[in-house]
Amino acid sequence: MKRLSIFVSGNGTNLQRIAEYFLEDWDVKIENVVCNNPKAYAIERAKKLDIPVRMITKKDFNSEAFVQELQSLKIDLIVLAGFLWKIPENLVKAFPKRIVNIHPALLPKYGGKGFYGEHVHEAVVAAKEVQSGITVHYVNELYDSGEIILQARVSLDENETPDSLAAKIHQLEQAYFPVAIEQVLLSQN
Ligand code: GAR
Repeated sequence: MKRLSIFVSGNGTNLQRIAEYFLEDWDVKIENVVCNNPKAYAIERAKKLDIPVRMITKKDFNSEAFVQELQSLKIDLIVLAGFLWKIPENLVKAFPKRIVNIHPALLPKYGGKGFYGEHVHEAVVAAKEVQSGITVHYVNELYDSGEIILQARVSLDENETPDSLAAKIHQLEQAYFPVAIEQVLLSQN
C-alpha cells in the first residue's frame, strides 16, 4: 500500500482528479490533505471525498513535529497540487525524491518565486511564446528546480489569452498528473 499526502492552497481540481484516478486502486491511499489556506475550495472537495484535512500555519509547517506527523502516517509520497508555500529544508531532507510538484509551465522557463497560477499564463502570453505546458518534478530546497519527471506541451494560438491558456493547461494537468504520480510510485522501492 502506498500512502499519499496531498498539499493544496486553492481550488483543488488536481486533488479531485488524483483522488478519482486512484479511487478503485486498493494499492494507493490518500492519507490526508494538507492545506495552508482556510478559504481554499480544496477543503470542501477533500471533505466530500472523505479525506482528512490537516490545516497548517507557517509555524506548524516549519516544525520538526510536522515532519514526524507525516512520518508517523508512513507517507510514501507528498504531492504538491497547487500548494504555494516553499517546502522547508527539513521536510525535503526527510522525504528525498518523495515530494513532487506540478507547475503550469515548461520549466525552467516561468518558474521560481511569484510564478504561480494565472501569473504564469499572463507572463507566457505577454512574451508571445508559441508553446507552453506542464512540468511535474521532484522538489528540492529551491523553487521549481528539482529533477523533471514529466512535461507535456500545448501550442498557443495567435489570439491566446491567459484564460484560454489556463483552460488548455488544466486539460493537460487532468490528463497527465495522476499518471506521473503513478509512475513515481511504481519506481519507488
Ligand atoms: C495548477 O494549475 C497548478 O499547476 C498550479 O496551481 C494550480 C492549482 O489548481 N501550481 C503552481 O502554480 C505552483 N507554482 P488546483 O488547485 O485547481 O489544483
